[in-house]
Amino acid sequence: MGDQQVVPARTWTHRWTFVLAAAGSAIGLGNLWKFPYMAGVNGGGAFVLAYLCFIAAVGVPIMMAEVALGRHGRHSPITTMSELAKTSQASRWWGVSGWISAVSSMCILSFYSVIAGWAVYYTIGMFSGTFDHITPEQADASFEALTLSPLRMTVWHSVFMVLTGIIVARGVHKGLESSLRIIMPSLFVLLVVLLGYSVMYSGHFMEGVRFLLEFHPEDLTGQALLAALGHAFFSLSVGMGAIMAYGVYMPKKESIASTVAVVASLDTAIALVAGLIIFPLTFSQGMEPNQGPELMFVTLTAVFSSMPAGQFFGGLFFLLVSIAALTSSISMVEPLVTWLAERFAIKRAVGTTAYCLLAWLLGLGTVMSFNEWSDKLFLGRTFFETVDFLSANITLPLGGLLIAIFASWVMKRSLIYKELNLSTGGFNVWRALCRVVAPLAVLVIFTENFLG
Ligand code: PHE
Repeated sequence: MGDQQVVPARTWTHRWTFVLAAAGSAIGLGNLWKFPYMAGVNGGGAFVLAYLCFIAAVGVPIMMAEVALGRHGRHSPITTMSELAKTSQASRWWGVSGWISAVSSMCILSFYSVIAGWAVYYTIGMFSGTFDHITPEQADASFEALTLSPLRMTVWHSVFMVLTGIIVARGVHKGLESSLRIIMPSLFVLLVVLLGYSVMYSGHFMEGVRFLLEFHPEDLTGQALLAALGHAFFSLSVGMGAIMAYGVYMPKKESIASTVAVVASLDTAIALVAGLIIFPLTFSQGMEPNQGPELMFVTLTAVFSSMPAGQFFGGLFFLLVSIAALTSSISMVEPLVTWLAERFAIKRAVGTTAYCLLAWLLGLGTVMSFNEWSDKLFLGRTFFETVDFLSANITLPLGGLLIAIFASWVMKRSLIYKELNLSTGGFNVWRALCRVVAPLAVLVIFTENFLG
């Protein structure tokens, strides 16, 4: 890996920029849209507890491994893994992990863009006053009108995909740093304002808290555990090289452990706050928590419609959701486009266009699964549910498992030890989590769901 030419002179200006970029990747629809709806579908407290345990015991150690591998390898994730396999005299088959991550990123981007397209649609709708003074039933009906129209969904899906493509093609560094500095704090502030509103005006705040935190052991089914495990990977953006790709730009002297701790805490806190905003408001609207993917859109549209200056706050909220989704989606495309450029000298613009076009086409399946194909099921799942399940619940955990095993079993101890720069005790804890706990968690839950 001694090719110093490729070592970018463009390492992030300082540690906080890496934190911002990694948080930009991690924080997105996963926290604001998916976490609340999955908690709602899987019974609340038990799912949340399992999710928190998986973040701490599986997600964080693997995220540390990803950053360490990225910073050590200084290439795209696929090249890094295969080069490191060579220098560690391990099998060429480690390259397979690259393909697994390609499947993850393609599947995730395909449906992510469709849902983010909804957020773009709601941003414009709110700012133009479409959802002013409507009843919860009307909020529900307008969501349905959007999702029943393949054409409208395709338009917004396309808008989002083009935005993602343009940013990646131009090189994520330009602009990412400065825009994240504004977007992330704005999102936090707006979430705190909404949380305050939920506490003071929903009238059901404690009911929401109870739903989110009350633990009913009977809800802890194998399926819920798999969903929680998959969501821990999805939410932290680990298991497919997104964080590894950003790790390349992390300055050598910074501590990986504390940086990852900051990113993971921010990510988890935002998901919990989103839940604390959405559930009390859902109850206050007389709605059910287990609605599924429409939860955030319908509930909040109904709430904003009656809130003072609600259309303004609503527009701002969906704008920030759209941008948060954009900073996540670019991190899905980045690793593969860098690899295509590195391996086949394919221009960024060409690689990005080809990749986004494929993901866009696959995304049409998700578009159709809300209307024309809503009754076309594959093993009981719609197209959208299938790509979501395949990527979040199968290929991300598998990719993460390979990264954990690679960093803790295959790579030379001295290399990873130096890169992580932990105390010996800390290193041993990290290694035990990657060597034993993470693989066991994935294997046991996979066995329970697929073979049990
Ligand atoms: N973590 C992102 C979110 O929560 C989604 C994501 C998954 C991004 C995998 C990159 C890689 O919205």
